[in-house]
Amino acid sequence: ELGTYDHYMQKEIFEQPDALANTLEMVGAAKSLQPGLFGADAEGLLKGVRQVLILACGTSWHAGLVARYWLEAIAGIPCAVEIASEYRYRESVPDPETLVVTISQSGETADTLAALQHAKALGMRRTLAVCNVPESSLVRETALRFITRAGPEIGVASTKAFTTQLAALYLLTLVMAKLRGRLDAAAEARELQALRHVPAAVQAVLALEPAIKTWAQLFGAKQHTLFLGRGRHYPIALEGALKLKEISYIHAEAYPAGELKHGPLALVDKEMPVIAVAPNDALLEKLKSNLQEVRARGGELFVFADADSEIADSEGVHVLRLPEHYGALSALLHVVPLQLLSYHVALVKGTDVDKPRNLAKSVTVE
Ligand code: M6R
Repeated sequence: ELGTYDHYMQKEIFEQPDALANTLEMVGAAKSLQPGLFGADAEGLLKGVRQVLILACGTSWHAGLVARYWLEAIAGIPCAVEIASEYRYRESVPDPETLVVTISQSGETADTLAALQHAKALGMRRTLAVCNVPESSLVRETALRFITRAGPEIGVASTKAFTTQLAALYLLTLVMAKLRGRLDAAAEARELQALRHVPAAVQAVLALEPAIKTWAQLFGAKQHTLFLGRGRHYPIALEGALKLKEISYIHAEAYPAGELKHGPLALVDKEMPVIAVAPNDALLEKLKSNLQEVRARGGELFVFADADSEIADSEGVHVLRLPEHYGALSALLHVVPLQLLSYHVALVKGTDVDKPRNLAKSVTVE
């Protein structure tokens, strides 16, 4: 089953262009997006929604955090994202006009299922699952669904499930934007065009593997790593840190770069590598000054930039460039090199990549 790959995680990282092409199959020939993508009753249930509440765990929660930026900026709808195990035990203020979106690769995560049941018990009936397993418990319990077509994910570290969840959540954003009169036909055509190009764009990012492998050598002896990102790339920094700690057992933390000066900068010295997710977007200039703060304390920087970013290699600053800047969807591209980095660091450390210690693929207990 592994074919030419050494591990499922590696195979699943490289399957992403196909997983995305399958998940986005319906945009191939489509001239427009229809709410029906999310189920027969979708139009009725999605119309009049006042806010979105996303519930998930782990990597799926990170996908939700990215979606919040999209839903608020593009669809203009307020969005909250909560860790399922927190939501289910919290006294919250329910609003029946909320769309509750649960995200899960397996659809069997106990905390996510319980959070959904809690939301339903509070009177919220507009429920949607973004899930990779069509016959899962989660899909059975929601009114609406979008099935990602990543194919079976075996490695404990989630990779292709994440990027296909992002694709699904972007489609949801566009459908919501359209229902709310915020996406005209020309913008919709542009968005569909961008989505069609996503598999090829991810393929081009995968070609960075040899350079990332070289970087990975430098992490084998490190105890700690800091990941920085801003805006919708902050959740990507969180995801990079989760991948690294999960499979290489290196302590990793992620911060929105603007928070550095409020505490974590105290940790930075030459022993602390700092990984920056630095796409060429409106926040790049701000991020660059955060990175100077790191350099000034002797921290070694590993920067994932875009082809046209004005960030150059210099003493203590290593820069890798993604082939193109991809606008709103760039979060989907920028996670891929972080997946590859954690994979190669784990190889350097000799850990069990597909079955990291203490973890299960599907967490069906509380
Ligand atoms: O199956 P789910 O998406 O509900 O799983 C949620 C988390 O347990 C999962 O994403 C976990 O964090 C992964 N091991 C991360 O790589």
